[in-house]
Amino acid sequence: MAHRIGIMGGDGIGPEVITEGLKVIDALGIEYDRIDYDLGGERYLKDGTVLPDEIIEEWRGIDALYAGAVGTPDVPPGLIERGLLLRMRFELDLYINYRPFVAPGHDFVVIRENTEGTYAGEGGFLRKGTPYEIATQGSVNTRHGVERCVRYAFELAMKRNKHCTLVHKTNVLTFAGDLWERTFNEVAGEYPEVETAYNHVDAACIYFVDRPESYDVIVTDNLFGDILTDLGGAISGGIGLAPTANLNPSGMSMFEPVHGSAPDIVGTGKANPVAAILSGAMMLDHLGETEAADRIRAACANPNTLTGSTSEIGDLVVARL
Ligand code: IPM
Ligand code: MN
Repeated sequence: MAHRIGIMGGDGIGPEVITEGLKVIDALGIEYDRIDYDLGGERYLKDGTVLPDEIIEEWRGIDALYAGAVGTPDVPPGLIERGLLLRMRFELDLYINYRPFVAPGHDFVVIRENTEGTYAGEGGFLRKGTPYEIATQGSVNTRHGVERCVRYAFELAMKRNKHCTLVHKTNVLTFAGDLWERTFNEVAGEYPEVETAYNHVDAACIYFVDRPESYDVIVTDNLFGDILTDLGGAISGGIGLAPTANLNPSGMSMFEPVHGSAPDIVGTGKANPVAAILSGAMMLDHLGETEAADRIRAACANPNTLTGSTSEIGDLVVARL
């Protein structure tokens, strides 16, 4: 049966890079039914639509969603990010945020918990607008949520170089950190072949720059993972090369480049489609088309030599398949 793939080009350079990703997937002869979704900042400005419930329901029945980027300068910051991206992660339980970083000298993956932590929306205001105003923003960490994420990281480490590092801030975040550390250590007991390490998140920022080769799989919470993966992109050839999978390992999952909609370069041909193309490869992995996915990764192996306009880079990747 053909795969059912939702396509959400989104805003800015999103549609441009997704076009190149689909060019590469099509060149491999992958068969799929394509369902297009017009969502993002531009759509919101047109008719106020962010993410209708019917579309969430429809997504439960497809195999994957391939997305460009969302965000338009005229929309209040955060509205589309929370209403579309975060809602999708929560409602479809895309609990693994999988971000690989490959560059000369290092090859590691950050497994970021994708549904809890400070992103869960716990908190609120008291006495808002007064001089005694209080704002709290809690970090939600469930045993279930932490354990499934840590377990995923160990399973991945078993398929890779059998090394797994927990990144947290246990010296200060004594409740959340304790739950993460205990869970990590207990799960580690089930994987005696996997060597483990622990870094405080601030120290991890130094090690990312100084000795990134010491990592294989990193597992961390939602906010630490958000910040660390931008750093990961910066030390791995730039954000134009960094792909993401938002995974529900047993269901519909979403694939997107880490970068944003870059409205300043729309239509100039300057957008680098490699991150989107590599996100397409991750989607093919999820669909069981691992051979095709490996061919894409091999074709993108020397990203410095992939130069030219957005569509020229897409053509070059196709030529190297
Ligand atoms: C990311 C992005 C999102 C996040 C934003 C757009 C909500 O920065 O995917 O890393 O913080 O998770
Ligand atoms: Mn981010």
